[in-house]
Amino acid sequence: MSKPMHLAGFLIAGPVTHSHASWRHPASDMKFLDLDYYEGVARTLERAKFDFLFFADVLAIPRRYADDISDPLRRGTQGALGLDPTMVIASLISATKQLGLAVTKSTTYYTPYDIARSLATIDHLSKGRVGWNVVTSLNQAEAHNFGQREMLEHDLRYDRAEEFLEAAFELWNSWDADALVIDRASGVFADPTKVHEINHEGRHFNIRGPLNVSRSPQQRPVIIQAGSSSRGKDYAARWAEAIFEIDPLSESRRAYYRDVKDRVTNFGRNPDHVKIFPAVMPFVGATEAEAREKQALHNELADPISGLITLAMHTDHDFSQYSLDDPVAEIKVPGAQGLFAAARNLSLKEDMTLRDVGKLYAQGVTLPQVVGTASQVADQLEHWIETEEADGFMISAAYPPQAFSDFTTTVVPELQLRGSFRKDYEGSTMRDHLGLPAANLVPPPRR
Ligand SMILES: Cc1cc2nc3c(=O)[nH]c(=O)nc-3n(C[C@H](O)[C@H](O)[C@H](O)COP(=O)(O)O)c2cc1C
Repeated sequence: MSKPMHLAGFLIAGPVTHSHASWRHPASDMKFLDLDYYEGVARTLERAKFDFLFFADVLAIPRRYADDISDPLRRGTQGALGLDPTMVIASLISATKQLGLAVTKSTTYYTPYDIARSLATIDHLSKGRVGWNVVTSLNQAEAHNFGQREMLEHDLRYDRAEEFLEAAFELWNSWDADALVIDRASGVFADPTKVHEINHEGRHFNIRGPLNVSRSPQQRPVIIQAGSSSRGKDYAARWAEAIFEIDPLSESRRAYYRDVKDRVTNFGRNPDHVKIFPAVMPFVGATEAEAREKQALHNELADPISGLITLAMHTDHDFSQYSLDDPVAEIKVPGAQGLFAAARNLSLKEDMTLRDVGKLYAQGVTLPQVVGTASQVADQLEHWIETEEADGFMISAAYPPQAFSDFTTTVVPELQLRGSFRKDYEGSTMRDHLGLPAANLVPPPRR
């Protein structure tokens, strides 16, 4: 196999992953309020030489499905409880030495100074291991938690996100690499000629700067992106170094891969410097039959309404108004357009009703499930790399943390034996693990 595979672990700092059944699964551990739980997952992934541990995040208890939070709370759906993942990754720095630590932060509700400062801090303390999943957020409930009457419209959120990253890059660039002197003898702490105001004046932000954190080991976080619309893909093409994708169908994953890499080229960037990570949910067994039993046990626990609550949260559209026996309607949604397109596509191509799609969403937000022995799972993952559907995988655990260990103690050694995945880290930063060149601090030009 020619291209090295990249691996990341997916978590939400709460009771569920993509699987809404995960908190009810007999093999899962519901210690999501304990630091030990996250440290355990991080150590498991680091032992297996994963590139990074990734935390998704939403900023409100879901409310879009039937304008109600009691059902999401009772059912324990995605977003019903979520610790602040920036705090969680900061607390994992000392439990790990090499694993990348990536966090989701929204450009719609924070300011460039907030995020530039907190992620530069984590990059310093972790010695260059931070990544930022740049999202534009999804729904009205989040807007209402941040003092806004209405969520900004889809493309306006991306306009703000463009300027947000431009300003954040300026802030990270506001300290020259050699600005910090710390010369006790002469009494010079920092060279003020090497620390610059940015005087950013734009449509969304006016920021004087400089940042009050010096240049960090990676210079800035690795930029991760998870947008699925055409606008989202262009945003990724301009900024992203890793892309998180959800798509249940092989042919559309392949089309997405080609499309995004072409867009990256159009932005004058090297497509090898943008790694595409589709999410998958593995079920591994000593035999294929055992793996299928594990899959069936898990999938049986997923209830369609939980899935539809999350589909409503992701798309910001109320699916309680339709019959469960109808196909997914053709509509334009204000939230995640590509996630909705994937759900509708399933309805059209696989003849699924809204109930079927809800069940699949509850099982894993439509993530493909990769099932079999270690060797069969390794075959499938390698095949995706060879056929240019993926550069790496976001591994989502059906029953955390055990499902991570199942994968790292069986599939990872198999991949290592075949030479498809690293046996050890070759560098120390998250950028090193991803095989990325030194970070640019000048924003790539708009098109
Ligand atoms: C695979 C995937 C993962 C995402 N993860 C998050 C997340 O953790 N938090 C969040 O607020 N938005 C998340 N989003 C939402 C996107 O950042 C974006 O705001 C939304 O999808 C709307 O843009 P789009 O229509 O381009 O997808 C995710 C979207 C996708 C497709």
